[in-house]
Amino acid sequence: MRKIIYSAVLALVLLGCTETRCPQDVLMRHEDEIDAIIAQMTLEEKVQMLHSKTIMSSEGVPRLGIQDIKYADGPFGVREEVGDGFRPLGWQMDSATYFPTGSALAATWSPELAYSYGNGIGQEARRRGKDVMLGPAINIQRLPVGGRSYEYLSEDPFLSARLAVGYVKGMQDAGTAACIKHFALNNQETNRGSVNVIADERTMREIYLKPFEAAVREGGAMCVMPAYNKVNGDYCSENEHLLNEILRDEWGFKGMTVSDWGGTHSTMGAALHGLNVQMTGDNYLGRPVIDSIATGALTEDIVDAKVREILRLRLAVRPVPEDEANKVQASQPETRAIARTVAEKSIVLLQNNGILPLSPDIRKIAVIGRNADAFTASGGMGAGVKTPYEITPLAGIRKRAPEGVEVDYAPAYKNYLGMFARWTGQTGPDVAVALDEPADPAMLEEALALAREADVVLYFCGTNKTIESEGMDRTDIKLPVGQDAIAYALAAANPNLVTVVISGGPCELASVTECSAALLQGWWNGLEGGTALAEVLFGDIAPSGKLPFSIPFKLQDSPAYALHNFPPEEEAEEDLFGAKYRKDIVGQRGPRMPRYKQTSEYTEGLLVGYRWFDTKFIPVLYPFGYGLSYVDFEYSDIKVSAGQFEMDDRIKVSFTVRNCGNMDAEEVAQLYVGRPEAKIEWPAKELKAFQRVSLKAGESRRVTLSVPVEDLRYWDVEKNGWAVEGGRLDILVGSSSKDIRLNCFVSLIGLK
Ligand code: BGC
Repeated sequence: MRKIIYSAVLALVLLGCTETRCPQDVLMRHEDEIDAIIAQMTLEEKVQMLHSKTIMSSEGVPRLGIQDIKYADGPFGVREEVGDGFRPLGWQMDSATYFPTGSALAATWSPELAYSYGNGIGQEARRRGKDVMLGPAINIQRLPVGGRSYEYLSEDPFLSARLAVGYVKGMQDAGTAACIKHFALNNQETNRGSVNVIADERTMREIYLKPFEAAVREGGAMCVMPAYNKVNGDYCSENEHLLNEILRDEWGFKGMTVSDWGGTHSTMGAALHGLNVQMTGDNYLGRPVIDSIATGALTEDIVDAKVREILRLRLAVRPVPEDEANKVQASQPETRAIARTVAEKSIVLLQNNGILPLSPDIRKIAVIGRNADAFTASGGMGAGVKTPYEITPLAGIRKRAPEGVEVDYAPAYKNYLGMFARWTGQTGPDVAVALDEPADPAMLEEALALAREADVVLYFCGTNKTIESEGMDRTDIKLPVGQDAIAYALAAANPNLVTVVISGGPCELASVTECSAALLQGWWNGLEGGTALAEVLFGDIAPSGKLPFSIPFKLQDSPAYALHNFPPEEEAEEDLFGAKYRKDIVGQRGPRMPRYKQTSEYTEGLLVGYRWFDTKFIPVLYPFGYGLSYVDFEYSDIKVSAGQFEMDDRIKVSFTVRNCGNMDAEEVAQLYVGRPEAKIEWPAKELKAFQRVSLKAGESRRVTLSVPVEDLRYWDVEKNGWAVEGGRLDILVGSSSKDIRLNCFVSLIGLK
C-alpha cells in the first residue's frame, strides 16, 4: 500500500523543494536519455544490472557505452582493492587517507567539517576510480556495546542527521555518490543477518529514520543500502514500508538501493518491494527475474523502473576512465589536512585538575599502554583503510615533545586479538587469551618502573578493532585486559597520571576517572590522530570535542539493558553473517556461533541514550554533549525572537558566549528543548540545534540558533502523520546535555 501522506507533502514544501531545487533533482536530469537507453536494451541486459558483477561492481550496458558502477567501502576512507571474498589484491596504488572513524567525526559536532570529510573521501574515491562510496554509516548508537558504534555517528538523531547531511553533500560535490547505510534499524551486530527489529512507528520516525531522512531529503543521497536485519517482520532489502512507502513515496528518493552484501533474500520480495541491486550474487535478481517475467509473476515494467533508477545514478556520476584511475596516490596533502583538522577537534577532555596542558618544565614522559603504539586504520572487518602512514599517539608525542624531553614507552598490557589470534596464528606471551585476563606482572612492573621515574605518565587504555568490530557486539564495556588495575597501580606510582581512552564506542570509566589527574577520549583518529593528540596534550590547541554518546556508570544502566531488550537469549543455531563464520574474513570457517532470539524489541521507544538517562533520572558518568576545554566559557543574555510560534515559523534563540581564558578555544553551544506540560510522552529533553563557536582568548560572541517548528513535530500514530503538540516549550542552552546555562520558554500553537 503506497500512501502519499498529507503532512509529507507539506514537509516537502517546507524543505523548499517547490521553491528552490530539491536535492534529489540532480538524479532527474537525464530522463529522456534514460528512456532512449532502456528502449534499446534487451531484458537480459536489464537484468544484468540488477545484481553484482564482481564483489565491488555492478554491470552497466557495455553495448551502449554505459560503464559499470564501481563501489568501495566506506565509511572513513576508500578501502583497498579487493578480489573475490574481500581478499586484498595487494596493489601499490590503492592506499587512501585513513580519516577519523564515525564517532570521532561526530565528536566535532561540526556539519562543516563533516562536509569537508565527505568531500575529501569523495575526491579520493574519484582518484581510485570509484563511483559509489559505501558510507556514511548513520545508524543510531542504540547499544553502548554495539560492534559498529565506531563507524556510526551518535546516539542522537539530530546530531547524526546534521553530520550525515554534511558528509553526503561534501562527498557528492566531489562527484562521488554516497550510499547511506544501513537502512534501517541495524543497531546490533548480534544476529544481524536475521534479527527482526520490532519498533513502533513513532520511535522509527523520530529516532532511527531521522538521519536517513535528512541525508536523502536535504543531502540528496543518491544511493541507499538496505540493512541485513528485518524491521517489523520484513527484511530491509524487501521492506515495502521502508523502501517504497517511506524512502521513495514520502521522502522522494530518486536513486538506487543496493542490498548489504549477502542481504538479499528473495526474488519476488526484492523485485516488488524496492531493491535495485542484489549485492552480491545473482541468485535472486538474476535469471529468476527473467523466469518470473516468463511466467507472468513479474512484469518487465518493474525491471524497467529499477534500471531507470540505477541509470539515474550512473548518468549523474561521471565514470572515471580506466586509464585515469589509480594513477596518483588517492591520499594527498589536502585530504590528509582534513583528516587532521577533524582529529584536532574531536578529542574530548573529560576531566582535568590542571595538569593539562603539559607544563614546559616536564623533562621525562612515560607513555604507557599498548594503545599508544597501535595502528588502527585496518581491522574491524569491512571498514578498514590501507593508509599511506599512521601517526600513532606515541609517534605524535615523540615528534612534538620539546628538545631534551625524554619519552619512554612500555606496553603494560597484552594485546587482545580474540578469535583472530588463533586463526592468524598470532599467539605468544604478549597476546591475551581472554578479555578479562588480569595484568601480566612483568609487563606491569616494566610500566611502573617508567612511571616512577617520569614527571608525567600518559596512559593509553581502551579497546581495539578486535574488541569493537563489525559482525559482533561487545559483551560488556569494561576496560579489558586488566587496564583498570594498571591505572590504579600507575596512579600509586605517580599521581601525575593523564589517561587517554582509545576506543570507538563508550567504555566504563569510573576507575580511570577516580585515579587520573586528567582524562581524555582519544578515538580512532585517522592517520594524523597522534599529531592531533600531541597538539592537545602540549597545549598547542585547546580540546574542543564533545561526546556524541553518553558514558554510563555501568552498562546495565543503559536503556536496552535496563529493560532486558538486550542481550538476546541464545537459541540453537548459528548466524550466517557473524564475523566468525565468514571464511573471507578470517581465512577459514569459524566454530558454529550461537543463534539468538529472532526478535529485538525496542520497547524503550524514544528513550535512547541521554533521552533515557534524563527522563528516568539515571545518573551517568559523562553525559551526552559533554567535553571540557583549557578555558571556561560563560553563557549570558538569552533572547528569543518571539513568545509564540506556529508551524512554518523558526524559533530564533540568541545568547552570548565568552571565552574566559587566555588561549583561543572553541565551544559547541547546544540547544535542547523540554516540554514540562505535555500531554503526550516526550523525552525530558532533546537536542534541536547546536553550533561550534571559535573564540579568541577573552572574546565574546553573540550566537543565534534557529529551530524550525517542523523539527518539533511528533509522529502521530493515529493520524499516521506528523503533528505539532501545542503548549509550553522550554528552551535550554548550554555546554552539554547536563550543563544547561540559560533557559527561557515559548509557547507553541498545536497542529494536528
Ligand atoms: C557491511 C557493509 C559493507 C559491505 C561491503 C557488509 O558486511 O555491513 O557496511 O559496506 O559489507 O563490504
